[in-house]
Amino acid sequence: MTRRPDGIRGTTITGTGMYVPERVLTNRDLEKLVETSDEWIVERTGIRERRIAAANEASSDLALIASQRALQMAGIEADEIDQIVLATTTPDRILPSCGCTLQQKLGATKAAAYDMFAACTGFVYGIGLARGLIGAGVSDTVLVVGVETLSRIVDYTDRNTCVLFGDGAGAAVLRACDAGVGVHAVDMHSDGELGEVLEVPAGISLNPASDRTVAAREHFIRMQGKKLFPFAVRSMEDSTRRCAEAAGWSADAIDLFIPHQANLRIIEGVRERLGLPEEKVYVNIDRYGNTSSASIPIALDECVRSGRLKPGDHLAMAAFGGGATWGATSMTWTLAAQRAADSGARRHEKINTKSREAVS
Ligand SMILES: CC(C)(COP(=O)(O)OP(=O)(O)OC[C@H]1O[C@@H](n2cnc3c(N)ncnc32)[C@H](O)[C@@H]1OP(=O)(O)O)[C@@H](O)C(=O)NCCC(=O)NCCS
Repeated sequence: MTRRPDGIRGTTITGTGMYVPERVLTNRDLEKLVETSDEWIVERTGIRERRIAAANEASSDLALIASQRALQMAGIEADEIDQIVLATTTPDRILPSCGCTLQQKLGATKAAAYDMFAACTGFVYGIGLARGLIGAGVSDTVLVVGVETLSRIVDYTDRNTCVLFGDGAGAAVLRACDAGVGVHAVDMHSDGELGEVLEVPAGISLNPASDRTVAAREHFIRMQGKKLFPFAVRSMEDSTRRCAEAAGWSADAIDLFIPHQANLRIIEGVRERLGLPEEKVYVNIDRYGNTSSASIPIALDECVRSGRLKPGDHLAMAAFGGGATWGATSMTWTLAAQRAADSGARRHEKINTKSREAVS
């Protein structure tokens, strides 16, 4: 395996997987809960429906299925994983970490597992961390997961937020590869000054759970959407440009851009500023809404399994979210996608059946 001149190993994605719960919540369903309309939601956000976890599905259950699918595509067993980086804002519990719960369910007996709290940018941060671990030779195989059951912290009496979010999970297996392909750059940023723009006010050390916090609905997401909008467009554009430049590409050399799916108008704003045609930008927000840290790996898996990504393609992914956090990554795709999808598809059904049995 060739290394970079500084001895750093290349890192690439060798398998992807995703899972979304079966229950669909449509805009029409939301019309019955709050004063809103399908027309408003579609026009202002691009969202038509989102998935909602069943009462007996926790984040680790969603993450488990997405991870099993990623491992199958990568052609590895769970005990080959060295580290599990689980990005989430909605872990099963605050203790133990959701990463550890996933490790146990997956049977990843040799993995160090932990949670990454970077809101919607969590998967991109996870790629950055995995690249560092693999590049430096600390780990050979890292599973990065983005998973959310946001429906558990969404206030279904607040029309400003409840129309936006959905549940789901996505996962990717990262391993060492030749220098020159795989991940070229990961750009990661935070600005705590913007913390209150998107928050869950109560529940842990600052504002522990009490009758008062429950009555004041402080365990739900609160958002200043208008303030986030311009920041989202600017930050994803800047970060993507930096990653493209680090890869030696002009923005128009990007073959596929996967943005965080928060609002179709935000995606369109970034696309226009980057000068990319519509066919190079992947959009699935209409079907899933904003699944936070799961949005990019869900989209990535759909691109891989549909054959949208081919070896040699220039891929860029970018996100922004609470914290505030934002970031992007650029990579030259190495996975022979169609072959992987074909071999994964046969075993997919088996997992589907097994997982349904497990939750029924
Ligand atoms: C939330 C968001 C969709 C709102 O769209 P917008 O065009 O900015 O809408 P505005 O905030 O200007 O609100 C316009 C009006 O629609 C109303 N409105 C808000 N939600 C509504 C809904 N679901 N249905 C109907 N009307 C709604 C507002 O109350 C406001 O009414 P007013 O003018 O009487 O006060 C948009 O700001 C957004 O997507 N921001 C980014 C949020 C985000 O990405 N969050 C996740 C971060 S990872």
